[in-house]
Parts: sequence; C-alpha cells; structure tokens
Amino acid sequence: MSTIDTNMFEPESAILPLLKGTAIDGMAAYEALVKKAQTDRLGFWERLAREHLTWRRPFTKVLDDSNAPFFKWFDDGTLNASYNCLDRHLQDGNADKVAIVFEADDGNVTTITYRQLLARVCRLANALHERGIGLGDRVMIYLPMSIEGVVAMQACARIGALHSVVFGGFSAKSLHERMVDVGAVAVITADEQMRGGRNLPLKSIVDEALTMGGTDDVHTVVVYRRTGGSILWNATRDCWLHEIEAAQPDTCEPEWVSAEHPLFILYTSGSTGTPKGVQHSTAGYLLWTSVTMKWTFDIRSDDVFWCTADIGWITGHSYICYGPTAIGATQVIFEGVPTYPNAGRFWEMIAQHKVSIFYTAPTAIRSLIKASESDKTVHPRRFDLRSLRLLGTVGEPINPSAWEWYAREVGDGRCPVLDTFWQTETGGHMIAPLPGATPLVPGSCTLPLPGIEAAIVDETGVELPNGQGGLLVVKKPWPSMLRTIWGNPERFRHGYYPPELGGNLYLAGDGAIRDPETGYFTITGRIDDVLNVSGHRMGTMEIESALASNPLVAEAAVVGRPDETIGEAIVAFVVLKGPRPTDAEAKKIADQLRAWVGKEIGPIAKPKEIRFGDSMPKTRSGKVVRRLLRSVAKGEAVAQDMSTVENPAVLHQFSEHV
Ligand code: PRX
Repeated sequence: MSTIDTNMFEPESAILPLLKGTAIDGMAAYEALVKKAQTDRLGFWERLAREHLTWRRPFTKVLDDSNAPFFKWFDDGTLNASYNCLDRHLQDGNADKVAIVFEADDGNVTTITYRQLLARVCRLANALHERGIGLGDRVMIYLPMSIEGVVAMQACARIGALHSVVFGGFSAKSLHERMVDVGAVAVITADEQMRGGRNLPLKSIVDEALTMGGTDDVHTVVVYRRTGGSILWNATRDCWLHEIEAAQPDTCEPEWVSAEHPLFILYTSGSTGTPKGVQHSTAGYLLWTSVTMKWTFDIRSDDVFWCTADIGWITGHSYICYGPTAIGATQVIFEGVPTYPNAGRFWEMIAQHKVSIFYTAPTAIRSLIKASESDKTVHPRRFDLRSLRLLGTVGEPINPSAWEWYAREVGDGRCPVLDTFWQTETGGHMIAPLPGATPLVPGSCTLPLPGIEAAIVDETGVELPNGQGGLLVVKKPWPSMLRTIWGNPERFRHGYYPPELGGNLYLAGDGAIRDPETGYFTITGRIDDVLNVSGHRMGTMEIESALASNPLVAEAAVVGRPDETIGEAIVAFVVLKGPRPTDAEAKKIADQLRAWVGKEIGPIAKPKEIRFGDSMPKTRSGKVVRRLLRSVAKGEAVAQDMSTVENPAVLHQFSEHV
C-alpha cells in the first residue's frame, strides 16, 4: 500500500477536520494495522475475535480454507449472538442503559433498556421454543421498523434458529418465493405497518403468501399488534406476540452454537434467476459488525447512533440489530419515512434525540436537498444539529455535490462524512474512511478497512495499476463474508469466485477505479444487470420476468437510467402480444403493468417509465441489445453502429415514452 500524502487533501481537510482520539487514530495507525493484517493475517483476525466476542468455548483454529471458497472461521469455538448483544451488557454495567429509542410514524417515542430488551428476547425465544422451533429452523420475519423487529431477530439467534427478514415493501409473491426457498416453519409479522401517516397491511400479505402452496411446514404465525387494524385469524396457526410473551419467563438459556452456525439468510437480487439467499455465519459476521462500529463509526459509550435503514436490508441487520447492540450502544429506530409529516423529520429527530452518529442513504440526502430548496422551513440549518459528530452514507454512490451539502448543511463542516462501500454479501463495511485517519474526498469511499484486501483486476483476474478501471475483487477471505447461497453452493462458487478470474478472488459485482496518486477507490457501479434504485438492489431479470408473466406482454427488457435523486430509475421496454398501443392506450396499459409489477415483486420494483415497441431490438443471434436500450433510456441519439441489430427501426419507437 502506498503511503498517503495527507497534504494533497488540504482543501477538503480544511472543510472537514478529522476527529481526534478515535479508535484508529491517524494515518500511521491505520497503515500499521493494514500491515499487521497483511503480515500476520491469522494473528490479526484471531486477536480481534478474542477481544470483541465473548466465547462459550474458545476457538483453537482461526481459518479453515481446506474447502475454498467455502471458508470456515473460528470453527471449533462456540458462542451465541444474542448473548453477545444483550447478556454481556448486564455484566458490564450497562443493564439500564437505553438500547433503543423508538420513534413511531406519529412521533410517539418509546425507549427500552438492555435489561428490558433481553427480557423480551428471552420471552419470545421461550415461546418459539415451546412451539417446537429451535436449532437450525428457519423463521421468516415480515415486520415494520420497530423494537419488535430487533426482538424477533435476536430471539431467533438466541435459540439457534435462522431468521430470514423480508422487507415490508415486498409483495405476497416475493414473500412466498423466499418462504419456500428457505423452508420456513414460522413467520413473525404485524397486523399492519404505519408509514407516512398510512396504515399498510402486513398480516393479510402473509396470509396470502401462505395460500400459494409449498408452505405446509409453516405451523406458527406470530402477530405483533401494531395498529389494531382488522385481520383474519387462523386459530391453529396464529398467535399474538404480546400474549405468548406474557406467558413466558424472562430468562432463557442461550443455544450455544458453533461459530459457523448460520445466523441468518437474507435474500438479495442477482443479475440472473430468482433472488439468492445470502447465508451469514454467527461469529465472523458478529465480529465484523462490532469491529466496524468501533473503527468506522468510532462509537463511544455516550453516543446516540441512528441508522435509517430498514431491518429488511443488510444495513438494518448489521447496523441496527447486531452491530450497535453488540457494542452496547444507544440507538434510534424510526418507523416512518423522511418526508412525513414534512421533509424536516430527520433533522427534527436528530435534534430531539441528540443523535451524534447519523447513517443514511444518498437517495435520502438528495431528496431532502430538493425538499429544502423549495421549503426553507425544512432546511437542516433550521434545526439544532450540534449533537452530530459523524455522518455516514451507504448503498449507492454519493455524488460530490450531495456529499458537500451533507457535510456543510447537516454537519456544519465539523463532522467527517463517511462514504461506506459494502454489500449484503460482505456483512459489514469493506471500503470506508476512518474518521480519525483518512482524509476525505467527496465521491470516494477511500481505502479498504484493515484486513480487507481489495483490488481492481481485469477480466482475467490480473491486477490493474491505479488509474485504470476494472472489476472490484477481494483477494483474501475475511470473517464476515457470506458462507454460501442457501441451497445453492454452486451459485455461490460460480457467482462470487468465478473460474475466469482464477477461482480465488471474491468478485463484488461492481466496477471501480483507484486514484493514481492516493490509491483511493471510487465505485463506478454494477458490472452486471443489477440496478440500484434508491439504494435498493433490484435485478433487471426479476422485473423482466414479472412483466413477461402479464398476459398482455410478449417480451420485456429492463434497464437503468441515471436519475438525479434516486440514483437509477427503472425503464422497461415492452412488446405487447397485440399491436403497439396508441398514445392514449399506452398510458393506461403502462399503469396496469406498473400495478402488476407492484403485485408481483413489490412497489419498489415498479418501472418509472414503460415504453412500447413492435419488437425487441436484437442481434442476429437473438440477444437483446441492452447497450442500445440503455442509450435510448438516457435519451441519447442512437447513432451507434447498427449493423448487428436485426430491427433497428424499433429503437425510434422506443424513444417515445409514457
Ligand atoms: O453496487 C454497490 C452498491 O450497492 C451494492 C450492494 O447492495 P446491497 O447488497 O443491497 O447492500 C447495500 C448496503 C450495504 C454494491 O454492490 N453500493 C453499496 N454501497 C456503496 C455502493 N456503491 C457506491 N458507493 C457505496 N458506498
């Protein structure tokens, strides 16, 4: 690793001073750790694992790479994730520290201490046990943002059951697909969720999913009463969370599991096929979420941490359910949306709860910039944000102007802005600045964390020099990496350790480039057919299959178009079975198809634009020419070489949209 000349960063450093006295204090400390991790890799991870986790039976072997890429870490050690996240704090003097400050959609605030949280987790764990749920069983969680969401996930971890959380914005069909793939025996849900002043159904969606077949093993549906809205009740299967909790004692012996026991399965979109169940381990995953809380977020005992992600995504797993609790932090959990009752909600909450570390998505920042331009009363400067000391972003690239606005208007030029790059598969941060060490540059996630050996390679796996764009890879295994794809080890091996790259490099699926002088990384976007819409990962294939399953549709192709606010907008090109619709019909059919995709996958997958043509532009060998469709979607003139395209005229039809 090249030495970093901090003088080069003068302009930004002057705007954003680094913090003093952080966990990794200064560039020399960072470089020393990187070196340590390189020269004594196993010793580096061993020390961290002994220091940060509480083991029931200590491990004797750090890494088993005999069956690469199916790596095992700390394999003969035993522990329990919920013990590490909860019980530990009853012994370290933090029993009565507030674990969660929950703010509901309507502004109502509830708090829970570590002692109370442990009691609730134990009660639910006992109740699940009583219903025959235990080690290795899979439990679906389909809940709103709530204390109950954390209780449900931790209760599963306590008894060694694997949770699979599905974001509340997914449809019955998507929930069903995941439920069948994972082989669930139980579901934990709520009657309804409240978002932006509206009640939205959850339990009825679970009911619908359970009528779709292949879910006979689901014998229990636990229902959290959130709104009291009316729901249907199946007396043999359904039970109220508050009733089963009330019937149980508030202690529960944890199930001591092996370090490699799967902690959870979380589905994410890939470029092909159905969503894949990313499987994470217990020890390796928990280790890295704890360590990154300390290194990246520099968390201290008096911090108030707020990650605005949903527990249905990996960010909510790592930096709401597990990371903050493992290190005994106080965190804010928010039920609602950033624009309700107005776009000042985030700033108002930061002021009210004295949030010191704030972690959100670039899309949220961009939409709040827009809102504050048209309504000065929701501008962050109108709020007392002096409690903030650190700001972070995740999920998608942040454009320098949004980064600068965030730094200036929210952080008042005092708070480092950390652009953290990572993925569902990586479990925790991979490339991110350290607030006391890394001079910041807008638009760059800067440098890999110590222990993470990231590089950029060409299509044959050869490492490229700085300044040359290529494929982002990780050269060595790390403890929090996914272990496999649930039920599909070959998909794991081929997708993440492709033979074309030599079979020993983890392929992130993103393009990246390093600065010639500093070695800083900039992520240039996915190299596959995965879109990033408002920081949510969507497979184009999934949306295409959903559209193609509509009786009106003969063929569909989906691409992303850069969008100022949401990062990428979904644009669908559709060929109907009947003739190309007239302009008047087109709007109606587009609305129908949008609603259809909402039902098939979820509202987050609805195309922003739908365009109709007589046929799909294809090469003579029958491949859809996505490259051209992307240009058309962007509104670019399609003056490229058309000699390979069968039916170029259709591109002009596709240039019009509704
Ligand atoms: O393309 C990258 C983008 O989000 C993808 C991972 O999505 P997901 O698994 O849903 O996890 C998101 C939250 C960790 C990556 O492959 N991505 C994530 N963070 C960044 C990013 N792109 C640019 N900069 C980031 N900081």
